[in-house]
Amino acid sequence: MAVVTGRLALRGQLAAATATLAAAGIATPRVDAEWLLAGVLGVGRFDPGLAADAALPPALAARFEAAVRRRAGREPLQRILGWEAFRGLRLRLTGDVFVPRPETEMLVEWALELLPPPRPGRRPLAVDLGTGSGCIACALAAERPDADVVALDVSPAAAAVARDNAAALGLGTRVRVVAGDLVGPLAAARADLLVSNPPYMASALLAGLEPEVREHEPRLALEAGADGLAVTRALVAGARRVLRPGGALVLETAGRGQVEAVRGLLGAAGFAEVAVRADLAGVARFVAGRA
Ligand SMILES: C[S@@+](CC[C@H](N)C(=O)[O-])C[C@H]1O[C@@H](n2cnc3c(N)ncnc32)[C@H](O)[C@@H]1O
Repeated sequence: MAVVTGRLALRGQLAAATATLAAAGIATPRVDAEWLLAGVLGVGRFDPGLAADAALPPALAARFEAAVRRRAGREPLQRILGWEAFRGLRLRLTGDVFVPRPETEMLVEWALELLPPPRPGRRPLAVDLGTGSGCIACALAAERPDADVVALDVSPAAAAVARDNAAALGLGTRVRVVAGDLVGPLAAARADLLVSNPPYMASALLAGLEPEVREHEPRLALEAGADGLAVTRALVAGARRVLRPGGALVLETAGRGQVEAVRGLLGAAGFAEVAVRADLAGVARFVAGRA
């Protein structure tokens, strides 16, 4: 695969990389090439240096070529860059964690509305179940300095990434990361909020996903049994044990048919005020209720 050859000026290297990524089926080849070059140069994507006539030093050219090859192999852009922005925070990513998605920022928006308002002498407790990179937990802690957060993940490797992210963001004293299954490690009736973006793909649908997701996201972050609800079902069943009376549960779903099924699960488990919200594309995707 000819990616970047010789000592082309940056402009030419970007054009060559764009052609390689387009041939690999990347929907936004130019933007991705710019991000990868910016990542190698350690600058922002709109840095004027990206349009320079100068050639890249050989060591940087080799790194850019390697990054373009990875992206042409359909590895997620954010994974190659090693980070993603989420509600203004920069989260470090490894192959052990799911790449945070923009719609999950809306889940956090709703979670923040459902947390009790700040009150002297009272520290709200939020739980982020299936924390992955720690994006939800860190965003809640950053945006509610009066709150404490417990972040859980069944994957010890993901929990380690979340712990590192919380520490790097200066949130390590208020975000406690625990490796464990569902709500098992949590004490009863203490949480004011339980938020989760659980795995919600039906097993049979995995084969039809984009290669970035199918081949590069952790299977644990995606698959949830025959109907995609295995983790959500278990989570809803255990949620009332850990929530205070009146505490809120808010979940992301796959949308479409799944949101009604999850609304039904909350109703059947005795949650009150069960409501649904749409994502940025107008697809009903989030479900919340009160214990
Ligand atoms: C879709 S990812 C979400 C990650 C992150 N919260 C986000 O929104 O980007 C789902 C996460 O749930 C975790 N997970 C899957 N099954 C779990 C279980 N039974 N208990 C706890 N975490 C689980 C996975 O390891 C993965 O990190």
